[in-house]
Amino acid sequence: MELLSDKVIFLTGGSMGIGLECAKTYAKEGASVVIVAYPEGPVTTAIKLLGNARHLGITCDISDAEQVKTAIQQTLEKYGRIDVIHNNAGIASPSKPLHETSDEEWDRLMNVNLKSVLLTTRFGFDALQKSKGCILNTSSLVGEIGQENHAAYTATKGGMNALTKSMALDYAKHAIRVNAVMPAGVWTPMLRSWSQEQPNADSIEKYLDDIHPLGYCPEGDAIADACVFLLSDKARFITGTTLAISGGAELGYRRKE
Ligand SMILES: NC(=O)c1ccc[n+]([C@@H]2O[C@H](COP(=O)([O-])OP(=O)(O)OC[C@H]3O[C@@H](n4cnc5c(N)ncnc54)[C@H](O)[C@@H]3O)[C@@H](O)[C@H]2O)c1
Repeated sequence: MELLSDKVIFLTGGSMGIGLECAKTYAKEGASVVIVAYPEGPVTTAIKLLGNARHLGITCDISDAEQVKTAIQQTLEKYGRIDVIHNNAGIASPSKPLHETSDEEWDRLMNVNLKSVLLTTRFGFDALQKSKGCILNTSSLVGEIGQENHAAYTATKGGMNALTKSMALDYAKHAIRVNAVMPAGVWTPMLRSWSQEQPNADSIEKYLDDIHPLGYCPEGDAIADACVFLLSDKARFITGTTLAISGGAELGYRRKE
């Protein structure tokens, strides 16, 4: 049984990494996927990979209000409805303590990771109200537990976790569920470039395996499978949750073997 049959999913950042794995899995589960990302090349490649005309690629900078408004309009023109907005696009750079973070770096992180949620909600709300749809946010475990040398990024994800709960409360009366997933590490282009910004770049792969008690740093499919559940009717009574998909990375004291 397909868990997402006939759903129209507006997926930001679906051209690479976790988003691309979500796009593939959502398509397999019967959804029509709208990949909303930037720049154009990977969007085209991702849509080709999905290999079915029912999907749509839109090149859009999700921090720009006019572009998001147009992307929502294009989606409604093609499908006439939106069942899910998955706010997944994000950036992780710079890896720095707060006092070294520039205004430009701060603003870019806030606009891409957080203001984008305001924009997709502003322009997509009416459609979600009609479909009694869902919002799903790709947050991060570090939005809850913090992370060394990455303060501004963690602030965007802490903000996303708070938004998830407040939006869930505001929109419950419209039967719109709002949830978030919180990965720890996931092997994607983002994690590879973050790794290169670290002083211990050579030993980073082992470090990233070790932060997860289950013993390895996963690929994006582990996140995508949990997202399918949260978007499906199987999660019909779940809203406002920030679900760690972390191999236990947030759990207590650990002994190194
Ligand atoms: N990879 C990890 O270890 C990890 C861990 C926790 C949370 N996350 C979160 O998961 C999400 C996806 O991360 P990823 O690792 O797959 O990253 P990635 O860099 O591999 O992919 C990011 C995606 O976002 C899109 N994007 C970036 N800026 C954009 C913009 N301004 N407008 C439109 N699209 C834009 C890119 O086109 C791409 O499709 C992010 O929100 C990230 O913070 C990642």
